[in-house]
Amino acid sequence: MELLIVDDDNAFRKSVSMALERRGHSVASTGAGPEAMRMAAGARFDVAFVDMKMPEMSGVELVRELRHIQPGLRTVILTGHGSIDGAVEAIKTGAWHYLTKPCELDNMEALIRAAYKEAAPAPVAPDPTAGTYHGMAGGSRALMGVIAAIRCVKDSPFPALITGESGTGKELASRAIHFDGVRRTKPFIAINCASLKPELLENELFGHVRGAFTGAIVNKEGLLKVADGGTIFIDEIGDMNLTVQASLLRFLEGGRFRQLGATVETQVDVRVVAAINKDMEEEVRLKRFRHDLYYRLNVCRIDLPPLRKRMEDVPALARHFLGASRTAGGTTVDIAPAAVDALNAYDWPGNVRELMNVLSRAALLCKDSVITRWLIASILPSSDRTQSVVLPCLEEIEKRHLHESLRCNGWNVSRTSQSLGIDRRTLQRKMKRYHIARPPA
Ligand SMILES: Nc1ncnc2c1ncn2[C@@H]1O[C@H](COP(=O)(O)OP(=O)(O)OP(=O)(O)O)[C@@H](O)[C@H]1O
Ligand SMILES: [Mg+2]
Repeated sequence: MELLIVDDDNAFRKSVSMALERRGHSVASTGAGPEAMRMAAGARFDVAFVDMKMPEMSGVELVRELRHIQPGLRTVILTGHGSIDGAVEAIKTGAWHYLTKPCELDNMEALIRAAYKEAAPAPVAPDPTAGTYHGMAGGSRALMGVIAAIRCVKDSPFPALITGESGTGKELASRAIHFDGVRRTKPFIAINCASLKPELLENELFGHVRGAFTGAIVNKEGLLKVADGGTIFIDEIGDMNLTVQASLLRFLEGGRFRQLGATVETQVDVRVVAAINKDMEEEVRLKRFRHDLYYRLNVCRIDLPPLRKRMEDVPALARHFLGASRTAGGTTVDIAPAAVDALNAYDWPGNVRELMNVLSRAALLCKDSVITRWLIASILPSSDRTQSVVLPCLEEIEKRHLHESLRCNGWNVSRTSQSLGIDRRTLQRKMKRYHIARPPA
């Protein structure tokens, strides 16, 4: 099997690579996400083991990228003890499995063998984007407007600019532009300006030739070259410094750029899609963003409204996220109408991402496959708005949760105690304490 190991821990990477090679696998490895993306763009792998925490790019981000570069690649996320939340997010992003570190070689081998078995007749995976526009769920007028705008600009050669608060779906929209557009069979490469120092960002975008600076011992292709024919998604462009902005503007004007230290220019055909969660006009006014670059980017502009301005999307988003969730026991999760009301009463400063996180936690915590209002209330951060629907007292929440569980299980104490994962006698004791009794028929 062709394996890819991505981990910034050199010792771990080397020892695991050697051990797996001894077992007859062919192993490639790297310590950084962007390099892994380049490797996956150039060679086919069967399984990638990806460390969750890496300095340049997180494991979750890399899993997401690898899915697009090689849709058939199975990724296994490696997490430290106690970081189960991240593993859940990784699985939702499309990771195939996760392992906790330090991981046993035998467990890795078991997954490799499982991948081998599964690979034979290609499994028909359920399509998580079914019923959505490229993964964008919701039916509000505002979202329909966004989708119409995406359809309008998707085939244009001009750069596109996506604005909106954090977690509103800017990256999702940029992917829709690419994967619904004429460039869909070519690479989609993402780079985040906020996570890279200016020199590194320049180096990643444009690359360098050997000898360009101390330490440049080999030629390095920039991501603009890697994305040739496709799209480069420049995330958080508001954090790009003025020097890199100048180079980007030059590129947008002629499709040419110069690798660091090179004497000749490289010509590529790459569409730029940029995203920003700051006030773009304010950045220009404060001279932190070049006005000429702003005008060039602002031609095809899509504004993603915050979730609080399109609350009609909440039920559809909840169904969408819960459709992808499973309880620990493997059953699907439902949400009570009152729980949807509780979601509607909240402001969602973190937008769709926050809603997704709240629902994944609820799906993990819910024991009887129904997310109740009380469970949602216990997860949502308390604010003046939520206080009005939440009883802050934990005992009250427990009481109502028990009541709801009993009701859902037809007041059968054994079944309810099983679904709650508690002892039957404990449940009876709690029922007595809270004065919970079966209502008369
Ligand atoms: N309409 C939607 N339907 C389904 N999922 C969505 C929708 N909008 C956003 N999401 C999900 O919410 C999460 C955040 O979206 P995304 O990363 O695109 O936001 P963003 O605007 O780029 O955020 P940030 O500014 O923080 O980078 C992602 O997991 C994305 O899949
Ligand atoms: Mg983003």
